[in-house]
Amino acid sequence: RQDRAIRPKRLADYIGQKELREQMEIFIQAATARQEALDHVLIFGPPGLGKTTLANIIAAEMCVKIRQTSGPVLDKAGDLAALLTNLEPHDVLFIDEIHRLSPAVEEILYPAMEDYQLDLMIGEGPAARSIKLDLPPFTLVGATTRAGLLTSPLRDRFGIVQRLEFYTVDELANIVARSAKVLGIAMEPRGAYEIARRSRGTPRIANRLLRRVRDYAEVKGNGTITEELSFQALEMLKVDNNGFDSLDRKLLLAMIESFAGGPVGLDTLAAAISEERGTIEDVVEPYLLQQGFIMRTPRGRVVTQNAYLHFGLQPPKQLGMSE
Ligand code: ADE
Repeated sequence: RQDRAIRPKRLADYIGQKELREQMEIFIQAATARQEALDHVLIFGPPGLGKTTLANIIAAEMCVKIRQTSGPVLDKAGDLAALLTNLEPHDVLFIDEIHRLSPAVEEILYPAMEDYQLDLMIGEGPAARSIKLDLPPFTLVGATTRAGLLTSPLRDRFGIVQRLEFYTVDELANIVARSAKVLGIAMEPRGAYEIARRSRGTPRIANRLLRRVRDYAEVKGNGTITEELSFQALEMLKVDNNGFDSLDRKLLLAMIESFAGGPVGLDTLAAAISEERGTIEDVVEPYLLQQGFIMRTPRGRVVTQNAYLHFGLQPPKQLGMSE
């Protein structure tokens, strides 16, 4: 896979997330000038918006190494201790899915983050003893889909908290154009725009669609991604005019047809479309909410009139259709 090749390596090459970029530039420059480790960073947001990319960029900008692991992989306290004791001063430790750490591992992290100290219990029962080790100053970069999934003691220990937003179509068009250039794909600007428009605000999706549209353009055309070929390829891929995929449509149609537009509870909805609750919350809903196709109410999710109109259906009267 060429994923690594198209990931931006420096903040200057990172497209979009303007406020985040401006802030991180200052925090990184200040920490570097003081010759300190950067404060711990929590990055949250829907999948595919560049959390891992950003962690790698932070390490590159700080001129340090990055060690990567993930919450579910860190099984025992000793696993984390091994990683922490192998860090060099100012290194980045990147923990993806940090909301899935076990309580025992999380306990180790608190003093490590706060005081660069490792508190380990060895043995059990009356013979148990605790040992303390000094750790080098380091930066923990944690990533999660939702900040609310973290325990508050863990969340409170991050000095920098950044939320990744969905990208605009123009930003995605720039990202796709950049990726095409890196991969040596010929593409017309309108071809890039058509891909960008249907990528659910998400670079990972845009880059995946770029590869599939390239396949199509090579087989059905002369290899150059034009607007026309882009359009045809995306129709073939069943990515619709709003960039919704089959899961988006399934969820919206279930809400309209089985629950009269809602309100419907998350678990009821999950069962109705045979999907995991977590997938709906983390992957499907955020974009539909942001685009104004569903809303959250205290009694559950409801669709908006946009959802009816998307399927060419007549919205019910009480949704306040304008004339
Ligand atoms: N690839 C994935 N995310 C990106 C971003 N924000 N900027 C440039 N390329 C990217």
